[in-house]
This record gives sequence, structure tokens and C-alpha cells, in this order.
Amino acid sequence: MPRISRFYFAMAIIYLLIGIGVGLHMSIAHDHSAVGAHAHINLLGWVTSALFGGYYALNPVKAGGWLPWAQCGLYSIGLVVMLPALYLMLTGTPGVEPAVAMGSMAVAAGVVLFAAVVFTRGRGIRASRMMPQPAE
Ligand code: HEM
Ligand code: HEM
Repeated sequence: MPRISRFYFAMAIIYLLIGIGVGLHMSIAHDHSAVGAHAHINLLGWVTSALFGGYYALNPVKAGGWLPWAQCGLYSIGLVVMLPALYLMLTGTPGVEPAVAMGSMAVAAGVVLFAAVVFTRGRGIRASRMMPQPAE
């Protein structure tokens, strides 16, 4: 599996643990005010990151060069700014909205770069070259 896929899955599972933690906390406290943060931690943090990681694992040719890491960097920094700020905003901390906005923009930019990865030729290792060669 390419290094970028391992990074994405490591990040994704951490967000799933946090997202489920927030979901359990909401359920136990009977206070669903953080539902927007719970939904986006799980869907942007776990599901979308795992989809990105899965895409690079299935298309190792797309995992080489600077573009995938620029995509991954923007998306990851966006999430780490957006998601905690969204949780704080929804649970009543004032003044964090600009962080939610800036994080969201970085996430959106990371998604635009992912579209570029999908629609351009890759510079990594072709999957066929990674296959074990048949014995002579
Ligand atoms: C043990 C795990 C989980 C618990 C305890 C939990 C709990 C909750 C709770 C209490 C709500 C609020 C419901 C409401 O106010 O209407 C909610 C909403 C939501 N959850 Fe979870 N959740 C869990 C896992 C997940 C996972 C893994 C995902 C996604 C992969 C997810 C996606 C969502 C979404 C999208 C909503 C918003 C639904 C809507 O807009 O009505 N949840 N969850
Ligand atoms: C930067 C990207 C995104 C932004 C800025 C964004 C923004 C928003 C906003 C403003 C809402 C309405 C919240 C409310 O009414 O309280 C919302 C709800 C929702 N979004 Fe997103 N969204 C993004 C990405 C996504 C993605 C990628 C998914 C799914 C994979 C998603 C799934 C949902 C769901 C399920 C809800 C309803 C959850 C709830 O009840 O709060 N969003 N989003």
C-alpha cells in the first residue's frame, strides 16, 4: 500500500474513534447539539479520508509526485482546523467561526486537488509493475 494510503487510514481511524466518542457522548448526555460536528468528523474525517486512501491504494500510479501530497496536506490541515472548531462552535464557544470557515476552505481546496489527481495522469508506480512476476 502506498505511504499516502497508510497516512490516510491512520488519520481516518483516529477520526472514527473521535466521531464515535462524540456520538456516544451526545447519546448519553441527551444533548445532540454537536450533531453537525459528529456528522462531519465521521463523514469527512473517517469516510472521505478512507475513500481517498483507498483510491491511492487501488491506483498507485496516482500516488507519486507532489500533487497527491499537496492534496493530502491541504485536506488534513483543513480537517484539523475545521472539525475541532466546528465542535467548539456548536457547543457554545464564541469566536471560533472564522476557524471553521478557514478550515472548510482548506478542506474544499483539498477536494479540488483530489479532482485534479483523478483527472490527470499519475507519476507513481504502475500497478502492473507491483505485481509479483510469474516464475520462469
Ligand atoms: C457508536 C457510534 C455512533 C453513535 C453512538 C452515534 C450517535 C449519533 C447521534 C446521537 C446522532 C444525533 C441524532 C439526531 O439528533 O437526530 C447522530 C447523528 C448522525 N450520525 Fe452518528 N453515531 C455513531 C456513529 C456514526 C458513524 C460511524 C457515522 C458515519 C460514518 C455517523 C453519522 C451520523 C450522521 C450523518 C448523523 C446526522 C444525521 C442527520 O442529519 O439527521 N454516526 N449519531
Ligand atoms: C468543507 C466541506 C463541507 C462543508 C463546509 C459542509 C457544510 C455543511 C453545513 C453548513 C451543513 C448544515 C448544518 C446544519 O444545518 O446544522 C451540513 C450538513 C451536513 N453535511 Fe456537510 N459540509 C461539508 C462536507 C460534507 C461532506 C463531504 C459530507 C458527506 C460525505 C457532508 C454531509 C453532511 C450531512 C450528512 C449533513 C447533515 C448533518 C446534520 O444534521 O448536521 N458534508 N454540512
